[in-house]
Amino acid sequence: MNAEKKMAEHNPFPGENNTGHVWDENLRELNNNPPSWWMIGFWASVIWWVGYGVLYPMWPMGQQPTKGILGWTQIGEYKDGLKEVDAVRAQHEQKIKSLDAAAVLADPGLRQYAQARGKVLFGDYCAACHGSGGQGNPGYPVLADDDWLYGGGIAKISETITLGRQGAMPAHVGTLTEQEIDQLAHMVVNLSQGKKADEPALALYRSKGCVACHGPNGDGVLATLPDGTVMTVGAANLLDGIWRFQPGGFESAKRTIANGVNQVGQPNTREAVMPAFGQTGKLSPDQIKILAAYVHQLGGGK
Ligand code: HEC
Ligand code: HEC
Repeated sequence: MNAEKKMAEHNPFPGENNTGHVWDENLRELNNNPPSWWMIGFWASVIWWVGYGVLYPMWPMGQQPTKGILGWTQIGEYKDGLKEVDAVRAQHEQKIKSLDAAAVLADPGLRQYAQARGKVLFGDYCAACHGSGGQGNPGYPVLADDDWLYGGGIAKISETITLGRQGAMPAHVGTLTEQEIDQLAHMVVNLSQGKKADEPALALYRSKGCVACHGPNGDGVLATLPDGTVMTVGAANLLDGIWRFQPGGFESAKRTIANGVNQVGQPNTREAVMPAFGQTGKLSPDQIKILAAYVHQLGGGK
């Protein structure tokens, strides 16, 4: 006699819908249907699952799963997304072609577009020298402040990127005595700290040609046009605490005054070369417009 049969014969609850398994004399396993809410959920999920399998890729078939009658693929969805982005981009690029950098900056939609695209271009072409947010590096000017060598108006910035820049300041080791260089360096430090220059130093500043480039006030501005555009030769503003050449201060100023900037044959000269990106074809005119608008938004001005 097998165990099942024996148990059934000894089922102490014969009228009940149990499986015949009894433990501890009265603990039984019942054979009821699951509750109807559970069955509804179960069949609904089976139907959903079959439907999904018909519509979407699902069943593994050797190399590839079944395709599903909708023909949906992940890569297809990605490509559709790309097409949408390309369409929006083409629209903006088309507009930019017919405008100059100032007009790009003036159009809110294009300005936003230039912000996004410019960030990528800036990372690829400019960040190595100017830092990823234009915060500058030792020897490379900050672009994210409103302190400009060549002017921060959109037209000046475009010109800088297109043609490049190379500041030039003569070495003064041959034309000034060491004492005069010290005097001028002291004056520059004083000015950078908001103090007044003393008269003898100012007289030197005027008579030794500094004024021709750094301007009558020492702020690097030679003239301001009626529209607010400044005229400069790229000479640093000597009145603010921002040092073009690190570490700044007395010794730094002395070195610059003595050896000049970009002076061939002057071993201790300061090097300051901003490459040309337009003339050399490294960037297209449209890319330059986008970058100029981007840089202007970092810290542009007049
Ligand atoms: C190889 C390093 C280098 C790279 C790359 C470079 N720059 Fe410059 N950039 C310089 C230097 C150096 C100067 C300062 C030139 C001077 O002192 O005469 C400068 C100056 C500038 C100025 C003028 C700042 C002012 O105060 O007037 C702007 C604007 C500028 N760069 C933008 C850019 C943009 C935009 C890019 C990318 C397309 C870029 N630079 C790439 C080195 C670089
Ligand atoms: C021919 C134009 C020219 C003349 C003349 C000239 N400078 Fe300059 N100077 C420059 C330029 C351009 C720079 C900035 C270089 C750059 O960033 O490209 C500069 C930079 C400096 C700096 C560095 C400032 C800093 O922030 O690091 C000092 C200091 C300075 N000049 C002082 C003088 C003094 C003093 C004289 C007169 C003896 C003088 N310069 C004459 C063009 C000139």
